Amino acid sequence: MKKIIKKIGVLTSGGDAPGMNAAIRSVVRTCAFHQIDCVGIYRGFEGMIEGDFKNMDARSVKGIINKGGTVLKSARSKEFRTKEGRHQAYKKLKEANIDAIVTIGGDGTFTGAMVFNQEYNFPVIGIPGTIDNDIYGSSYTLGYDTALNTVVECIDKIRDTASSHNRLFFVEVMGRDVGHIALNAGVGAGAEEILIPEENLGLDRLLESLRRSKQSGKSSSIVVVAEGDKIGKNVFELKDYVESNMTEYEVRVSVLGHMQRGGSPSCFDRVLASRMGVKAVESLLEGKTNFMVGLLNDKMVLTPLDQAIKGQSKINKELLRVSDIMTT
Ligand code: F6P
Repeated sequence: MKKIIKKIGVLTSGGDAPGMNAAIRSVVRTCAFHQIDCVGIYRGFEGMIEGDFKNMDARSVKGIINKGGTVLKSARSKEFRTKEGRHQAYKKLKEANIDAIVTIGGDGTFTGAMVFNQEYNFPVIGIPGTIDNDIYGSSYTLGYDTALNTVVECIDKIRDTASSHNRLFFVEVMGRDVGHIALNAGVGAGAEEILIPEENLGLDRLLESLRRSKQSGKSSSIVVVAEGDKIGKNVFELKDYVESNMTEYEVRVSVLGHMQRGGSPSCFDRVLASRMGVKAVESLLEGKTNFMVGLLNDKMVLTPLDQAIKGQSKINKELLRVSDIMTT
């Protein structure tokens, strides 16, 4: 039976991503547009367990569309993984008369939301917010585009110093177990080689490729390494290996780290967040639950949460080929 929704809670959970604030703003304003109440839940599921709630009206989200991070804060809650934790969270939502929640985050967030929905038949809709772009059911996750731009800007700067010193740089980028950031930013920054978990290049082929680029007249090189890539145990061991096998190169490592998660969201992420927030709230009002909103072929679509979590976000084979051709 369709539940009447009069008050929606919104939270951000897991690793923060640029665009999360724009999504919060959109959820709050869509609630205001439909004349229902909206409550911000602080620190993800942690705040749900503790009842750390704050009423939010349309004006409370002014001036945040351009801000990185999340005004609602984020956490990875261990307690929410327990039955007791979820029961406590349910009690707090009921006490506050919250009828449904929008959860903004990645697959850990969606797993929590889905289990909660199954146990308490509580309406939930997810918005994919992670720089990794590793969620099935949306071509883009919030924060991915901004992270790509950040990485490209950093690599451009590294290239200045790499070419001044004729050095080889290994640049490690985030992405957890997938290579979307590495592949796209690598192509965008003109990297000589891109190492991603989806493709096991192998150490011998890496050396071969670096030798080839040296012979072709390149004096410096940038190799982008996805953090989930397994070619070397870690990027520093990779450096040692290449240095000991290619004495002609002086090698340096740059791990970009958490700077990739920060900064003002790109226009693309702001627009995407605005669209996703509207779709999330309106889906709940239509009685839909246990779905994630996503962007496919420039249309807002819903994917069941279990599929969003389990499905693979595939690497773009055509882009892999483009990358191979560009490094010729
Ligand atoms: O999921 C986003 C992400 O930034 C990954 O790219 C990275 O592996 C991980 O989070 C880092 O997590 P933490 O916030 O625990 O350092």
